[in-house]
Amino acid sequence: MKRSDIINDPSIGNRAEAFEAFDDIPTNPNLTRTIGDVINRRYGRRDVMRGILGVTATTALFGTSAMIAPKQAAASVAGRYNFDELAWGNDETHHIAEGYNAQILLRWGDPITADAPDFDVMNQTAEAQLKQFGYNNDYVGFTALNDEGTRGLLCVNHEYTNEEVMFPGLGRQDKQDFVGVTKAIAEIEMAAHGGTVVEIAQGADGAWSVVRDSALNRRITPLNTEMTFSGPAAGHARMQTNADPAGMTVIGTVNNCAGGMTPWGTYLMAEENFHGYFWTDKVDAEGKPDLSEQAEAKQMDRYGVPGMWYAWGKHYDRWNIDKEPNEPNRWGWIVEVDPRNPDAAPIKHTSLGRFRHEGAETTISSSGKLVIYSGDDNRFDYQYKYVSNESVTPENSVFGSTLLSDGILYVARFDEDGTITWLPLVHGEGPLTAENGFNSQADVMIDTRIAADLLGATPMDRPEDAQPRGDGTAYIMLTNNTSRKPEQVNAANPRADSAFGHIIEIKEAGGDHAATTGTWSILVKCGDPTIEEVGAQWNPETSENGWFGSPDNCAIDADGRLWISTDQGTGWGKTGKSDGLYSLETEGALRGTSKLFFRCPVGGELCGPYFTENSETLFLAVQHPGTDGTKDFKGFERDSTFEDPATRWPDFDPAMPPRPSVLVVTKQGGGKIAV
Ligand code: FEO
Ligand code: CA
Repeated sequence: MKRSDIINDPSIGNRAEAFEAFDDIPTNPNLTRTIGDVINRRYGRRDVMRGILGVTATTALFGTSAMIAPKQAAASVAGRYNFDELAWGNDETHHIAEGYNAQILLRWGDPITADAPDFDVMNQTAEAQLKQFGYNNDYVGFTALNDEGTRGLLCVNHEYTNEEVMFPGLGRQDKQDFVGVTKAIAEIEMAAHGGTVVEIAQGADGAWSVVRDSALNRRITPLNTEMTFSGPAAGHARMQTNADPAGMTVIGTVNNCAGGMTPWGTYLMAEENFHGYFWTDKVDAEGKPDLSEQAEAKQMDRYGVPGMWYAWGKHYDRWNIDKEPNEPNRWGWIVEVDPRNPDAAPIKHTSLGRFRHEGAETTISSSGKLVIYSGDDNRFDYQYKYVSNESVTPENSVFGSTLLSDGILYVARFDEDGTITWLPLVHGEGPLTAENGFNSQADVMIDTRIAADLLGATPMDRPEDAQPRGDGTAYIMLTNNTSRKPEQVNAANPRADSAFGHIIEIKEAGGDHAATTGTWSILVKCGDPTIEEVGAQWNPETSENGWFGSPDNCAIDADGRLWISTDQGTGWGKTGKSDGLYSLETEGALRGTSKLFFRCPVGGELCGPYFTENSETLFLAVQHPGTDGTKDFKGFERDSTFEDPATRWPDFDPAMPPRPSVLVVTKQGGGKIAV
């Protein structure tokens, strides 16, 4: 498909969908299995499966009892989650289950530092934006500053920007060759990316507010935040640029989607779709980048560089691969930020590999190691896990710890018999040798995807968030993959043309998150269970309100219960439901039962979910509200714009466009959420 065809395709709604559609052609070349191979393997494993996995997993894998009739609306399911589920829907505002408060805590443009100017949406500047809350809040983490947990630092990622609803009169720039993106606008966009660290406090009435004059409040941006590198790729020749001949420092971070908090309270920002920020002036007749003169062409092609989603490369050499061909190698990492020390330069840890990191959720294994799960969010890409070499001790539980630079990155192979094998990405082992282009561990980490291809990892349906529970159990969100053909299905990705995704549960061997083997099963296959072709599988106790599509982020609360937030939208996922937060039973007879707890305003995607340690406060991030124009709840057939958005949530002020915002959820009268 030509770039212009994607941009003008009326079935592709908002800017986020256009971003995804540009990527619809997977970059993984290792998709050569024939239908005969698949059939043989499926028959061959049937008997094995019966012995290893329970009935639920077997039917999930074979899809033999996928169809269930959903319960009627407002069914009350007695399970581990004590709340009455919301009715599904789609309208201008958010909704929360009865008995809970959902308070707006931070909106795009809210002043973060003591000297920040008030938000003036008609006259925004990069200088102001650098002191104000950024755009498209995604990951939310919290680290307490007092024993009671009533004061602490909120750490928020700002994944990307939607120019069409941020700037008056600008419209969708990908449809206009980016002609309106001046250097000043590009700099505002850059200043609205990155992250925010802000102190918040809970009052006696239970409500949370921003501590505006805290010296710890700061923005982290790709415009002006200097960072360093650690690990095997730090200083490598392929990391060197004209601005940084040592290959040791880089300005900022982009497309920070999900993330994680380390056990010692530092903040991990995942760099996801970094490829979208790179530009070239050399394009072929179809508008696709011409990499024929690029020394790094092979890996650029595998990573989708340059994506040309933003026009920053028209104004800055470092975003233009014609001028700085090594610059993309400095992105796609996990960044560690010390929220307690605003003077500490964040660190990009290259031991955790370079790919489109969705998140970086951490745990300490029963064997004492730091373990981090991270998915590579692209169609047919992989699930990864990092394990530290050292055990976690009080001495190494510090910012910049060797726990994050001395360890092994693994990629997952999901076998048809229900086992998972974690394959180490170590230079010199197996095919990861000079013969195959890997001269050192730096090459293995810079070209993680190519190394994982050679190891035979399992191509997945867009691995998004992955959450370890601490007891050897982990959940991974596979959001969708409409590019998977019938001959490309495998047991862990069992549906062709998967528009709604599924969730896999991993049980690591011996309950040890550092184990290199384990078992896996499918917890749910998402989508509408009343439509046979969808092939969904839920526990029959799930009501019409409870089923969802496109699981994206997830969280585990203080009681070990799983919560899922979705990116089903009204366009791409095609459920017609607004996105939201769902509880999802993982144990007992109700395993696979889901209930709706929170609903986004139209066009908004739900990110974040983060429970404080006592599970009495839940942070939620509503991303890109109002941007879903083509199929919004009023049936509008147009893009949302600054002047005419699908909603003006959360202000509902005719002079204000919709604003991505973080909400804080508490139980009325206090207490643990959903208990
Ligand atoms: Fe940024 Fe994969 O969601
Ligand atoms: Ca996400």
